[in-house]
Amino acid sequence: MTKMTAKDYMDRENKFGAHNYHPLPVVLEKGEGVYVWDTDGKKYFDFLASYSAVNQGHCHPKIVKAMTEQSKKLALTSRAFYNDVLGEWEEYVTKYFGYDKVLPMNSGAEADETALKLCRKWGYKVKKIPQNEAKIIVCNGNFHGRTITIISLSSDPDAFKDYGPFTPGFEKIEYNNLEALKKAVQDPNVAGMLVEPIQAEAGVYVPEDGYLKTAADLCKKHNVLFMADEVQTGLARTGKMLACDYEDVRPDVLILGKAISGGMLPVSAVLADDEIMLTILPGEHGSTYGGNPVAAKVSIAALEVIKEEKLCENSMKMGEIFRYEMSSIKSEMIELVRGKGLLNAIVIKPKNGKSAWDVCLALKENGLLAKPTHNHIIRFTPPLIINEKQMREAIEIIKDTFEDFQ
Ligand SMILES: Cc1ncc(COP(=O)(O)O)c(C=O)c1O
Repeated sequence: MTKMTAKDYMDRENKFGAHNYHPLPVVLEKGEGVYVWDTDGKKYFDFLASYSAVNQGHCHPKIVKAMTEQSKKLALTSRAFYNDVLGEWEEYVTKYFGYDKVLPMNSGAEADETALKLCRKWGYKVKKIPQNEAKIIVCNGNFHGRTITIISLSSDPDAFKDYGPFTPGFEKIEYNNLEALKKAVQDPNVAGMLVEPIQAEAGVYVPEDGYLKTAADLCKKHNVLFMADEVQTGLARTGKMLACDYEDVRPDVLILGKAISGGMLPVSAVLADDEIMLTILPGEHGSTYGGNPVAAKVSIAALEVIKEEKLCENSMKMGEIFRYEMSSIKSEMIELVRGKGLLNAIVIKPKNGKSAWDVCLALKENGLLAKPTHNHIIRFTPPLIINEKQMREAIEIIKDTFEDFQ
């Protein structure tokens, strides 16, 4: 049999798969730590880390072990029965983040949906908002996933165009605008606010210092739930366990996903205290795979790795080196470098018709994978286990690549 070429693999995906993504032309077949390899054996630094799901590095041995051992013993029971590991995960996760209860789901979008449902339940049952009148405040520029309800919150036409009619009950305000929030929380029918501590997909927009704290305080004052979507910013990505930790904010509802399983399988979680979480009763919400035994064991291992390998500290330190070095590059194409920890972006000014996509293609040729977001921004989010030597090598690749465009 003749060996398939990279083109063969890409053609097959394009022929049989929906065209809802536009991948860089690279076909990966192996990953280990901060590296991935393509089907021709070429090695790359992975500076996307699967949109921050692989914070612990590719195929982390401890997480792989948890996955293989549990998958041979018991993989799925559904929630029709108890199993012997879900409770272990629930206890571990609630103590890890300091909440009374956790509700497991699979994708980040499902966790956000869960938070929105939970917020409405609480709004009716506890805050006593009249039926079907509850509102939830969301921010322009958000990215919370792809379901119909979630795209109903979106201000990005690519996300919502031709998908209407949309779910009502959301009040959109400008991100990082406390005056707008002050006005919005006056409405007694507002049950909650859903916000990303840093808008990652939008292009790593970091709000002003104090924004989250003041927003959370305003919510508290007006009996509005402050819900933080930490699906991408959480779990050491920004240099702290949660991005909300920068401002000592404890969200009423905490939404996690991605790296909570270290990139092994879809796991997401919503955490809240009893007054909120116990408003949902048996039969009122759920998921067949949510909280399955493999997910539970994998997630415990993934969360242990974050603490054992001091990924918060490393993310903070490597992030500082990265931003310092990127800011020192003299290139007309670099408009701005911004981020926190290892969630960073470079805003690109197109030159001679070359955009962020062309820079990413050149980076790929030079051995580093990153992905543009919104045409003019490149996000750099390597696995958090990256060491200084690897980081400096990667920085050299990025510097050389920008030099080639001069
Ligand atoms: C902040 C945030 N929330 C939710 C999601 C959706 O997660 P998923 O793709 O697992 O549904 C993402 C994905 O990028 C995200 O960045």
